[in-house]
Amino acid sequence: MTADSTGAPMSGRTVQTLPPLGLGTWQNEDPEQCTQSVKQALELGYRHIDTAQIYRNEAAVGAGIEQAAVDRDDIILATKVWNDNLAHDDVISSTEASLNRLGVEYVDLLYVHWPVENFDPERTLSAFAELKERGLIEHVGLSNFTPEQLDQVQEAASVDIDAVQVECHPLLQQEALREYCSRHDIELVAYSPLARGDVFDIPELTDIADAHGVSEAQVSLAWLDAHDVRSIPKATSRDHIVDNFAATSLSLDQEQVRTIDAIDREDRQVHPSFAPSSW
Ligand SMILES: NC(=O)c1ccc[n+]([C@@H]2O[C@H](COP(=O)([O-])OP(=O)(O)OC[C@H]3O[C@@H](n4cnc5c(N)ncnc54)[C@H](OP(=O)(O)O)[C@@H]3O)[C@@H](O)[C@H]2O)c1
Repeated sequence: MTADSTGAPMSGRTVQTLPPLGLGTWQNEDPEQCTQSVKQALELGYRHIDTAQIYRNEAAVGAGIEQAAVDRDDIILATKVWNDNLAHDDVISSTEASLNRLGVEYVDLLYVHWPVENFDPERTLSAFAELKERGLIEHVGLSNFTPEQLDQVQEAASVDIDAVQVECHPLLQQEALREYCSRHDIELVAYSPLARGDVFDIPELTDIADAHGVSEAQVSLAWLDAHDVRSIPKATSRDHIVDNFAATSLSLDQEQVRTIDAIDREDRQVHPSFAPSSW
C-alpha cells in the first residue's frame, strides 16, 4: 500500500501506509446506492474502499470503482475472506470469485475476516501467500485478531502481515493493539470508527466538535488519525461521505487528544456469537 505525504496512493510499492480515511460498505446493501456511494467517495478524494465477501455487495462496489473517474491503480481495494472459506482451497476459490464479482484483476488487501472455523495460521495463510505469488492480492490483512493471536500467526505464517482491522473508536480505544501494530510496523485499520453512531452521544466529543465547528464524526476520525490509526467509516449519503472526508483537514491539539484518551470505556459494537472467547 503506497501513498504520498498527502495520503494519496501513488505507484511503486515501497512505503507501507494507507490513506487516513477510507470508505466502509457493510450494510450498504442496495446495489445502486452502494455503487453511487463508492463512486461519489472516490470522486471526492477517498482512495481506500473496504468490502467483504459476507457484505454481498462486491459487485456493486466494483461497479462504483468502474464508474468513478479514478484510475484503478490509485485505489486501495480491500475485501475479506468469510469464515466458511478459510480452508486452503476455499481461500483460493472464494478469492477468485470475489475478484470476478468486483470486476478487478487484483485486490490490494485481502483479510482473514475472523480467526474462527477452519482458520489455521499456517494452512490458511499459505493460500494467501499463493494468491500473492499469482499477483491476485497485494497485501495480507487480519481482522478481529488479538495480540496473542497475531503472535501465533507471525510465528507460523510464511507471509508478512501488512494490516490489522479491528473495531476502534473513542469508546473502545485498543491501546494494546495500537502498541502491537506500531511495534511490528503493521497498519491498524479502525472499523466502526464512529461507534456505529454512538460517537454523537459522547459529551467530550461534542465539546471538541463545537470548539472546531465540526461534527463529532470528524472529531472521532481526527482522534484516530492522531494515533496513526486508519479509518473506514461507512457512509451511504453524500452528506456523510463529505462530512467524514473533511476530517482529513482537522487536527486536534494535544489536550483534545488527551481528553479523548481519558474516556475510560470498553463499549464494543460488534460482538457476534462466533467471536473467539479470548476476545
Ligand atoms: N472487519 C470486521 O469485522 C468489520 C466489522 C464491522 C465493520 N467493518 C467495516 O468498517 C466499516 C465501518 O463500520 P460500521 O459500518 O460498523 O460503522 P461506522 O462507520 O462507525 O458507522 C456507520 C453509521 O454512521 C453513519 N454515519 C456515517 N458518517 C456519518 C456522519 N458524518 N454523520 C452522521 N452519521 C454518519 C452511517 O449512516 P449512513 O449509512 O446513513 O451514511 C451509519 O449508520 C464497515 O462499513 C465495514 O466496511 C468491518
